[in-house]
Amino acid sequence: MEINGKTRTCGLIGNPVEHTLSPMIHNTLAEMFGHNLVYVPFPVETGRIAEAVNGASALQILGLNVTVPYKSEVIPCLREVDSLAASIGAVNTLVSFSGGYKGYNTDMEGLYRAMTTEGIQLEGEEIILLGAGGASRAVAYLCAVKGAKRVYLLNRTLDRAEQAAQEVNRSVGRELILPMALSDFDRLPDQKFLAIQGTSVGLSPHVDQVVIDDEAFYRRIHTGFDLIYTPWETRFMKLVRENGGQAYNGLKMLLYQGVIAYELWNGVEVSEKEAQIVYEKLKSAVS
Ligand code: ATR
Repeated sequence: MEINGKTRTCGLIGNPVEHTLSPMIHNTLAEMFGHNLVYVPFPVETGRIAEAVNGASALQILGLNVTVPYKSEVIPCLREVDSLAASIGAVNTLVSFSGGYKGYNTDMEGLYRAMTTEGIQLEGEEIILLGAGGASRAVAYLCAVKGAKRVYLLNRTLDRAEQAAQEVNRSVGRELILPMALSDFDRLPDQKFLAIQGTSVGLSPHVDQVVIDDEAFYRRIHTGFDLIYTPWETRFMKLVRENGGQAYNGLKMLLYQGVIAYELWNGVEVSEKEAQIVYEKLKSAVS
């Protein structure tokens, strides 16, 4: 693509931003659609997020992704926040809106689309969610919004699981989330579950780590979804597979959070075929 006077800019704000795969996603899509658009990383120093958002608006930056550590801090800088992002309390995508930006959480919509394309559903499901940090809380909200039947929130520190459950249950107005200590997994009902791994345990280079190492736990899982995508197969995924379940990593979640952001910025629909081309590129970049 030739950069000229009509080129529009999108980008990523965060700190650090050097290792991001987002430019690959968006610049590939721009090329495929023939859009005159470029996506670049913008490192933002501590304490300067408001300046960055206002400056981006002044420069008519079409849209931005937001990464660590600004996903919550950016919220007061926005004109409006989408309802899912507001309940999660985290925004990863800014779309030009009314002289500023509106915030969305395409991380969770991306996870949902990734699951849907793999034939995994949340509606009416009984789900095990591992972890009670920011990522797992967001997944808990997603499960609530998408009509899950029950979510067993298992965390090493029971206190944090209880806090997260209380917060989500209060917000959705029903006792959807049941907090449990990891060590109590054998008290789960005797059935098979969809399990979502939302902690950073097992992330490269600590590839031998896993939150629960007992085979008995994995015999209760029909499908395991790990939010991690490096390594390609986490120990959690391996244990799910060894015990007869299907397992997926988080690369499609990364793909679709980007795809949905691109759709919001450009008012287009990215087909499965187009998404698959981007996915293959991401896959070779991470493996
Ligand atoms: P994020 O916001 O990215 O989700 P976080 O807030 O640091 O990350 O949360 C990390 C999650 O991983 C928590 O659920 C944490 O459990 P605790 O609440 O008990 O700390 C979990 N975690 C981290 N290391 C762990 C380990 N070695 N075993 C089990 N759980 C672990």
